[in-house]
Amino acid sequence: MRKREINHIDDKTLKKWIEDEAMTDILAQRADVIRRQVYGNKVYLRGLIEVSNICKNDCYYCGIRKSNTHVNRYRLGKEEILNSARFGYELGFRTFVMQGGEDPKFSQDFMVDVLKSIKEAYPDVAITLSLGERSYEDYKAFFDAGADRYLLREESSNPAHYDKLHPKEMKLKNRQECLYNLKKIGYQVGGGFMVESPYQKTEDLIADIRFLEELEPDMVGIGPYLVSHDTPFMDFKNGSFTKTLRLVAILRIVFPYALIPATTALGTVNPKGRELGLKAGANVLMPNLSPKEAKKAYNLYDNKLNTGLEAAEAKKQLEKEIASFGYQVVDDRGDVSDFGK
Ligand code: 5AD
Repeated sequence: MRKREINHIDDKTLKKWIEDEAMTDILAQRADVIRRQVYGNKVYLRGLIEVSNICKNDCYYCGIRKSNTHVNRYRLGKEEILNSARFGYELGFRTFVMQGGEDPKFSQDFMVDVLKSIKEAYPDVAITLSLGERSYEDYKAFFDAGADRYLLREESSNPAHYDKLHPKEMKLKNRQECLYNLKKIGYQVGGGFMVESPYQKTEDLIADIRFLEELEPDMVGIGPYLVSHDTPFMDFKNGSFTKTLRLVAILRIVFPYALIPATTALGTVNPKGRELGLKAGANVLMPNLSPKEAKKAYNLYDNKLNTGLEAAEAKKQLEKEIASFGYQVVDDRGDVSDFGK
């Protein structure tokens, strides 16, 4: 396999690109050229299944944190997960993302059983997990049962800033170790962070880019920080839309080969978020395949999109709309490209 190209940009340039509003369009155009060189105009879809909103963690920014007593907690059973997968498969989805809080009841045995059943029914799909920090043994068992990819945002690569976002039981070191374990096992791995999370400085974002350069992730997911009213951070404001776009573009420029989603958070903060995200270098969308009640209860932040184009049912309409932006939705697994220019 060819070594992947990473374009290292110096700190001073990155700082300007991150902070300067006037750079937004220039960066987006540059990112779009690179994205077309590596991935053409293709947009990959991932069917998101929100498997549980029960979480043992208490992250200060997150609406489904343990201490939030105003959440309708749910956990999907095997049949519900398989039904969502069947529904998605029939619509043409070839990647499913099972995302959830760190729910202790999602045992290794349960997950292995579900993964095997999905892979048996649909051998041509890729399965992505996003279930937080787990032991090496769990990650290995999930991989052996058929999981292909894992998303675990590092959230912040400056330990002091990470500590401001999380209670003391959570440590950046553990999270980074999880990411390296996942890589070692053979997963395609995704990191990422929120833009303008509370107390974040430009230097923290640069630290994230540096960490990711070392990790060489296959995927990078970012979105603006969005207020969630039942959290200790309720008085902070939403992250900037255009700064998020600049960071999407920067990530495409630095990691030409990466799979980068235009996230739900980006679509929540601006009605044209997903379109402008794609035009700034993103090449993945994650429509929601979760059962209706789950969609409503999986609120990481306020006003989360839960009707319309983020819903998987609207796939045909989504395809049309993406075509009108100049891109093309494709029904395949959409693995990371190792043919970067
Ligand atoms: N605003 C934006 N993104 C959030 N996430 C969690 N809470 C929020 C919020 N309030 C992101 C985290 C997590 C991902 C699943 O959702 O980065 O990794």
